[in-house]
Amino acid sequence: MLYEKTSTSPVNIAVIKYWGKRDTELILPTNSSISVTLSQDQLQSKTTIRASPKFTKTRLWLNNVEELNLSNNARLQNCLRATKKLRKEYEDQLSDEIGRDNVIPLSTYNLHICSENNFPTAAGLASSASGFACLVYTLSQLYELPISTTELSKIARQGSGSACRSLFGGFVNWQMGTKQDGSDSQALQIASSDHWPELEALICVVSDAKKSTSSTEGMQNTVKTSPLLQYRINNVVPERMKFMTDAILRKDFNKFAELTMKDSNQFHACCLDTFPPIFYLNDISRAIIRVITEYNNSTGKPGEYKAAYTFDAGPNAVIYALKQNIPDIINLISKYFPPSQNNLNYFSDPYNLFSNESEKI
Ligand code: ADP
Ligand code: DP6
Ligand code: CO
Repeated sequence: MLYEKTSTSPVNIAVIKYWGKRDTELILPTNSSISVTLSQDQLQSKTTIRASPKFTKTRLWLNNVEELNLSNNARLQNCLRATKKLRKEYEDQLSDEIGRDNVIPLSTYNLHICSENNFPTAAGLASSASGFACLVYTLSQLYELPISTTELSKIARQGSGSACRSLFGGFVNWQMGTKQDGSDSQALQIASSDHWPELEALICVVSDAKKSTSSTEGMQNTVKTSPLLQYRINNVVPERMKFMTDAILRKDFNKFAELTMKDSNQFHACCLDTFPPIFYLNDISRAIIRVITEYNNSTGKPGEYKAAYTFDAGPNAVIYALKQNIPDIINLISKYFPPSQNNLNYFSDPYNLFSNESEKI
């Protein structure tokens, strides 16, 4: 017998960034964060999981390449262990109700997991977020777990921190929590995706190359060496979390944009304050920051913004803007970065400008 489930998951791009762990095993963050989950029109992970008593071991293929030594992949093992434990409890409960012979012992079967991202992996476009969210969600479907999305977010968190936020659509808060066992470090939805339909994201793929410093490694070095990160954790993020939540609920784009840009800047400042420093932005990323700053200055009104850039741990820009300004921004970006010359690809969500192969710069 073969049991199979397939599902897809979206990426999320943080506007208040998570960067730093207080517990690297359980993946507990040093600050809370807020993100926007993008629609799946452009970027998504797709995962198929099969379970069978005939499988001699659990195997994983990522983008059609088999990942070997799965036993060394602690994050994957943590997600598998947590979901299998819940499945076992569910099987025991079902056995009491309908008899052990009528329950499929899926918790004892090995799995074949096949996952694909339709966008660059490990390039700062949140592939670990959609990837682990998809893994954990597909497991919960396969195992038919009676579990809430917030509970599921605690399991996805143990795969990749940012993944806990991708289980919800719309605007999501990852509460850092205070408990040592991580039982209160979870994602909660601030508002659903139809709360602010005018808000769009334009994704500028500056480079699809795999980053040289993974998020996991980078943030650990920042925690160890950056005094600025400590300042950020204690003195900046708590207040920003409140203001950002408020800006989202009030659909106040000016405040949303200001906080988004400042938080991206401070995250990259923490990377520079890491010793040795980490450089995720490149010349094109910085040029995009200048173009957006100029565009915002053109309103002539300080504090009024038409676009907000943000960069995760990579050179690729995500620009948040209201729908009515997206055509202007696309014109501006294509004027400064003609794709034929710069190999910069960009597509907005849900607009689709180009879908040609992205090349290295
Ligand atoms: P990104 O900026 O893309 O999130 P990270 O350094 O945070 O980059 O994480 C990249 C890693 O996440 C990959 O090397 C891989 O281990 C894991 N990952 C990415 N996509 C998937 C997926 N679909 N399924 C399982 N793991 C994934
Ligand atoms: C800059 O969630 O990828 O994108 O928990 O080690 O897997 P791990 O890291 P990850 O870090 C994301 C960092 C970020 C900011 C964010 O998404 O909040
Ligand atoms: Co990641």
